[in-house]
Amino acid sequence: MRIDILSVLPELLQSPFEHSIMKRAQEKGLLEVHVHALRKWAVNEYGQIDDYQYGGGAGMVMMCEPLAKAIEELSSTNHYAEIIYLTPDGKTFDQRTANMLSLKENILIICGHYKGIDERIRQHFVTREISIGDYVLSGGELAAAVLVDSIGRLIPGVLNDETSALFDSFQDNLLAPPVYTRPEDFRGWKVPEILMSGDHKKIDEWRHEQALLRTKERRPDLTDEV
Ligand code: ADE
Repeated sequence: MRIDILSVLPELLQSPFEHSIMKRAQEKGLLEVHVHALRKWAVNEYGQIDDYQYGGGAGMVMMCEPLAKAIEELSSTNHYAEIIYLTPDGKTFDQRTANMLSLKENILIICGHYKGIDERIRQHFVTREISIGDYVLSGGELAAAVLVDSIGRLIPGVLNDETSALFDSFQDNLLAPPVYTRPEDFRGWKVPEILMSGDHKKIDEWRHEQALLRTKERRPDLTDEV
């Protein structure tokens, strides 16, 4: 999968994909991430990409021309299954969307800034609008890092133990059960005995029960959907 990201602040996206699982995914040739400075397509030599909004009001709007040119230039060499605009008024991102996007071939992500992008770009180029939560970030870059990380780790072959993503929180609309490691007794706080029993059927049942309990307690809205 190839992911292109259009950003006013590409520096913000230098490090997030250079470590751990994202690094491995790229080394294995399963994921390519390209961050593009939108100013490359600025309307003048001052690097202008935004302007005052029609109708008045505080805050600048990202202009049509730099975005349209960038999208068209990148689309001439890559076919994008999705052109995603990151915005707080988009549809809330979840694991189901991450799963679905991890199966796409190429994705183009637009990071918003200021008051956002001109509505005409949303209407004529964008195929999906995503918010990572009900709060407002200074720009879409951190949201893009969240999106790419959550999608990238789901690409088949990226995780070493292929099954491990299956047991992540949310994969079955359930939160993950508690986990423990050595020592067995830390300051008198003991690991549940069942985990030491060696009975894998019982352990699986216990984990499932714990996942259900935790979900009921913390996120009853998830079980409502099942
Ligand atoms: N840009 C600003 N806030 C955002 C959010 N919550 N999700 C996605 N993009 C954003």
